[in-house]
Order: sequence, then C-alpha cells, then structure tokens
Amino acid sequence: MAQDSSPEPGGSRWDVLTKTGAGTPMGDLLRRYWWPIAGASELEHSGTLPVRLMGEDLVLYKDLGGKYGLLDRHCRHRRADLSYGYVEKCGLRCYYHGWLYDADGSCLAQPYEDMAHPDARLRDEVRIKAYPVEELGGLLWAYFGPEPRPLVPDWEFFSWKNGFRQIVKAEIPCNWFQCQENSIDPVHFEWTHSNWSVRLAGTTGPYTPQHVKVDFNEFDYGFQYKRIRTDTTDKDRLWTVGRVCLWPNGLFTGNHVEFRVPVDDENTLSVMWHFSRVPREREPYVQNSIPTWQGPIADPATGRWITSHVMNQDFVTWVGQGRIADRSQEYLAPSDRGIVMIRRRFLNDIEAVKEGRDPKAVARDPETNRAIALPVAEREKFIDGFERTDFLRDPFSRRNLQGYIFQTGQPAEVRAAFLAAMGFSEAEAGADPRPFDPLAPAPR
Ligand code: FES
Ligand SMILES: [Fe+2]
Repeated sequence: MAQDSSPEPGGSRWDVLTKTGAGTPMGDLLRRYWWPIAGASELEHSGTLPVRLMGEDLVLYKDLGGKYGLLDRHCRHRRADLSYGYVEKCGLRCYYHGWLYDADGSCLAQPYEDMAHPDARLRDEVRIKAYPVEELGGLLWAYFGPEPRPLVPDWEFFSWKNGFRQIVKAEIPCNWFQCQENSIDPVHFEWTHSNWSVRLAGTTGPYTPQHVKVDFNEFDYGFQYKRIRTDTTDKDRLWTVGRVCLWPNGLFTGNHVEFRVPVDDENTLSVMWHFSRVPREREPYVQNSIPTWQGPIADPATGRWITSHVMNQDFVTWVGQGRIADRSQEYLAPSDRGIVMIRRRFLNDIEAVKEGRDPKAVARDPETNRAIALPVAEREKFIDGFERTDFLRDPFSRRNLQGYIFQTGQPAEVRAAFLAAMGFSEAEAGADPRPFDPLAPAPR
C-alpha cells in the first residue's frame, strides 16, 4: 500500500486534508459539523472565555440571562479584546466604549452614539462575527458553517444514567488530522500504550499479546475497527464490535469519547468526555455538573512530553509526527487500511459539499437524532451496571480507581468527587500490584 503515500501531481491531497481555514476544501467540509469547544462547567457562572478555533480568535461567553454566545474576539468598533468584556442581562459589552453585542452578532447598544445621535442609528448597520452555541452532554458546541445549521449530534452516551462524567482538555501543538487518524489505528495500542508502559516502568517484558488480525468497516456515524490478538478469537467483542472512529472528529471506546478540534492548522484542542458508571449500590446517582479540567502535556522540568498516561502517550505520537505530518514521506502498511478509508471518505465528502450535498453523519432529522445508538463492545457495563464486587474484579475499573489513567493532571477535587460517586475511600482504592491490560478478555 506504499503507493498511497505519493502526493498527487500538480497539487497535494495532503494539503487538502490538513488545511482547515474558511474557504479551503476541508475547512468548508468541517464547517458542516458542530464542534465541542468547552465544558459547560467552565462557564458555570456568567462570564467570558477566550478561545481560538478553526483559525479564528473568538470569545465564548454566557450572559447574565444564561444565554451563550461566540463572537469575534475583537470589538467591531476599535478592536478591543472582548474576552475582557463584561456580560449584561443580554449580551456581551465591550469595556472600551461600551458597545453591546447579542449572540446573533447584532449590536444592541452604542451608549454615546445612542445618546448623542439617536437618529443616526449607526448600530443597526453594525454586526460582529457570531457563531451559534448549544449545550449538550455538558459540552458547549459551536457551529461555523452555513445555514440551515444541522442538529448537535445526540450520541447515546450523553443520556446514559448513573455515571460520573468528566471533561478533560489538552492543547496539542499539531494539526488535528493526524490526531484523528489515530482514531482508526488499532495496532498502536499494543506499542504506544501496553508495551511502552512496560518499558516506562523499567521492565523489558513481558510484552502484551500481539495483534494478529485487524479489520475496518464503515457505518452511518463513522468507522469501526476490529482486532484479534493472540489471546482473543473472532468471538471476542473487540472483533465482533470493536471500537468506533466517530464521525468526523472522534474516537469512541465505550467509556470515553475523544474529540480532536482544530484550533488552527498547527494546533488541536483535545476534548475528552469520560463516563464512569457507578456501582449498583450507589444508584440512583445524579451528577448535577460535569467537571472540566485541562491537563499538561509537557514536563516543565525537562521540556519533554509527558508519557505516563494513556492519552499523553497518544499526544506524544501525534506531536512527534511533526506540526503537520509530512504524509508524502510515510510508508503505509496493510494495518493502515482504516486510515486510507477515512482519508478517502473525507476527500469524497469534500466533493459532496462542493456539489451542495450534506457530508457523512450530518444530523438533520430530530427523530433519528435522539440518543443515537453506536457500537459499544462492553455495552452492558454502561447500560446494565454492575455490583461493587464486579467493579473490583474488572481490571479496567480497578485500575481507574487507583488513579486516573487517561490524562495527567486530574485536580484533587475531581478525584475526590469521583471516589465519592463510586463509594470508595482513597484507602480502599489503594495500590493493586496486579498487571493491567485493558484489552485483555473479561475475567470469567
Ligand atoms: S473598541 Fe469596543 S466599544 Fe470601542
Ligand atoms: Fe492511543
């Protein structure tokens, strides 16, 4: 499959796949989808949050009336930074001369002009760049594309019950697409996570069971990837169901979904939404607000990337490929078939958008956009729940109880809230020397 790595004569398909700016082919395609840009808990109280997304500097805010908005970072008057603006009952006010903007981009007030030149109605002709914002699953979503806007995808996991949820962000200094290609890469798990963790622990083995077969297939909301390892068969759920490359920007594994959001062509916002089902003894459990935290990716002491946690290991692979991975220099192998499949889907959908059609997985029908069911290998773990004793027998849950494995930097208050939700004390959660392999067949 190495021939797939050569660029097109007369133009680079790699540029097409990686450029996200407005007016670029991929930029126009990506603007047909809603993007998760923050945790709602980051704006629990009204206020502003500076954000950079899709190559644009913006300000996200919640006004005193509880309405969200996403506006150009710079005031339409004389370009003051609106992330320092103050929210009013309706809208965001610039701190320089007091112009007030609503979430739809209209100018509600220009205090001096309204006073001195009320007939001029200058504000009627002023509009600031504005994008719609919606809340779903404790996430704030933004839409940067043309009207009519589609619906925010209502994935089933957003309405799963009895779970402790957390949203974890990270800023990754590389192009978003190499991050998303990792969503359809089963073999890396063996080397980036399992075996590297063995080596990072200072031992040289044993290595985890090897992948012997992988497969990929497309479905309405993405692609599934499937694997058989030396310790599993074609009866195992990692083969019959597998994992999901969620369209267009996510990886969904069951207990969490990772979204890769373009900040600009050389930076990505990683947004993870994580669900931990509480043991049955703790039901009914209702979580009123989903904590959001952001973890570091570099060690300030050494300047090197942090390698200790699952997603941090992924981050190292992504940034290691370069700011924008040079795909003209890669040498693809049969295990990369899924990556070729998603590249082709994006390239085909670019054409669909040019022809005025909707690309893959754009939700417009409220009837089907309701708790959209996805392939979930360990579905019963999330839907049916389990007893406390099962929780402790499950290697993944047990390991996660000892400390958050996905990303470094979990705040102490989030850990405390997690343990309280699960009904375990820090002492009970304590160290367990048994080896941990999240892909191992379930204990019987
Ligand atoms: S610069 Fe914002 S009101 Fe003047
Ligand atoms: Fe990974």
